[in-house]
Amino acid sequence: MIKTKLVGFERVLPSLSVTNDDLAKLVDTSDEWISSRTGIRARHITTDQNTSDLCIGTAKKLLEKAGWESESVDMIIVGTVTPDYSTPSTACMVQAALGCVNAMCFDISAACSGFIYSLSVADKFIKSKTVKRAIVLGAETLSKITDWTDRTTCVLFADGAGGVLVEAADEGGILYEDIHSDGSKGSSLVAGYRQNENPYYKGEAKSRGYIEMNGRDIFAFATRMVPRSIKAVLENTDVGADEIKYFVLHQANKRINELIARKLKVSEDKFYSNIDHTGNTSGGSIPIALAEMNEKGLLKKGDKIILSGFGGGLTWGTMLIEL
Ligand code: ACO
Repeated sequence: MIKTKLVGFERVLPSLSVTNDDLAKLVDTSDEWISSRTGIRARHITTDQNTSDLCIGTAKKLLEKAGWESESVDMIIVGTVTPDYSTPSTACMVQAALGCVNAMCFDISAACSGFIYSLSVADKFIKSKTVKRAIVLGAETLSKITDWTDRTTCVLFADGAGGVLVEAADEGGILYEDIHSDGSKGSSLVAGYRQNENPYYKGEAKSRGYIEMNGRDIFAFATRMVPRSIKAVLENTDVGADEIKYFVLHQANKRINELIARKLKVSEDKFYSNIDHTGNTSGGSIPIALAEMNEKGLLKKGDKIILSGFGGGLTWGTMLIEL
């Protein structure tokens, strides 16, 4: 059976790093409040790049490092809820910039699970032999849908892109996945509502489209469903938690991941964390973390790693991969 192997890991973060003290000049908050509740100390915020720019930079690094010809890429998927446009897709913009003329390109909207959903789709195309090589990116410029006067959300969200190359292989790769959605709870985290202003529209006028979140609902959802999903993956593959080198979870809030680690009875040291300097980059967070880990030499051939994303939709999903 064909396997889907992850063979490259890169990221691009905007150069501006905004600290908690910087934010305390914009809204009534403090470094103490933000860091004690979320683990965030700074985050990267774009000054001129859009989501496509971050994706193009990431994909360019991926291709250069791996020595892949642009023409050899069969598919580009971007997991994002902050595309530059509704159309063209961000993935099509990456294709145009890099000359990946043979690639099928589209975006996936699954919020903070967007990278896991995108990887899952790429996996199916590879296993069906339709695709041999794909670029899978997770990227956001959440700063453009953040209300910078709302201290309950503007301290959490950030910008950045990460991505991987995936390729058909004989062994290892994506071993198992457990992926879910619960649209009935979608109102806990909403963003990007687009008001219809056609001359005939009589519907109600809604919000300006900024992120609105019930933080406590999200906290409860994540700490209930993510451990369940990780356990399902381990049980169904007969892999013990002790065999997992790292748990790379969506970086929403350090306290969420600490509680998940405790519920799984796994040492927090195995839960990679970079939220202190990245903030919450939604679909970008998992591939950004993987790229950072790769740069530090933490990803070794044969390692088994759990990836788990959770967020708007609501959506969540876990994957077991072998490097
Ligand atoms: N600085 C100072 N005070 C603040 C801030 C801030 N940035 N934000 C809220 N407060 C105040 C509130 O106004 C409130 O004050 P009040 O008691 O006088 O009304 C008080 O702090 C408590 O507010 P809560 O919203 O109840 O704060 P809570 O302790 O629940 O913490 C948090 C908020 C950190 C968001 C928490 O709910 C949480 O961890 N939720 C998880 C959700 C999350 O992390 N989402 C990330 C995005 S979603 C995703 O990626 C899946």
